[in-house]
Amino acid sequence: MGSNSNYRARQADTNGYIHYTDDEHSRWRQLFAQQRPILEKFATPAYLAALERLQLPQDRIPQCEEVSSRLLEATGWRVVAVPALIDFPTFFDLLSRRRFPAASFIRSRDEMDYLEEPDIFHEILGHAPLLLDESYADFVQAYGAAGCRASTQERVWLARLFWFTVEFGLLRSGDSLKAFGAGIVSSKSELPYSIEDKTVERRPFEIIDVLCTPYRIDILQTVYFVLESLEQLYELANQDLIPWVQKARTIGLKPATFNNRALG
Ligand SMILES: [Fe+2]
Repeated sequence: MGSNSNYRARQADTNGYIHYTDDEHSRWRQLFAQQRPILEKFATPAYLAALERLQLPQDRIPQCEEVSSRLLEATGWRVVAVPALIDFPTFFDLLSRRRFPAASFIRSRDEMDYLEEPDIFHEILGHAPLLLDESYADFVQAYGAAGCRASTQERVWLARLFWFTVEFGLLRSGDSLKAFGAGIVSSKSELPYSIEDKTVERRPFEIIDVLCTPYRIDILQTVYFVLESLEQLYELANQDLIPWVQKARTIGLKPATFNNRALG
């Protein structure tokens, strides 16, 4: 997470309400409408059930408070608006306290499919539904707590665990694969690509392999990891993640597989 962004955080009024323009609401409406049919085809049933349960508005950008009220009841999580980019210590601290930091701006019309920075569509549509799931909710908190304890170097390694699960994770669903990672489910092109593309690698989730696999944020992924169930996240949530990071560091990073790929 860096500190350069072309986007500005939207400021709330004195009642904590963010006023979006009609055009910003219409971008949300368009994003939601284009994502809905492909989600039903490629997203994991647990995500779809959670999305249904969350009852997000389709015609306007929701306020963090209204999303939080449903999460609080279920798993004690809330979504809090933050500037477009925040530093690692703030990010980990918020997660460890069951507060999911959400960028408050919505993407511009020329970045409707994918942008490197998280916007409110990615945060809310991508992350909020599964915060209703106890395994996912516990894992994200445990990840935040581990990040608080980790050294600066260890955090870089730990970030790959988040990337390949919470952001770009796949899940086995019967005989097929489905997506649950927020970076996938909030992207029009990566959602079908992650499941159907014949050239990408889909490897079984193994924590050391995950921690040692490099990634780039500016291309469609070349490697995905497949969980057998979301309970695997719950098992991870109950382990100390730092010794895994220390072990991974002694093994070292694997060679990148994306050097010859075009930008996606
Ligand atoms: Fe995200």
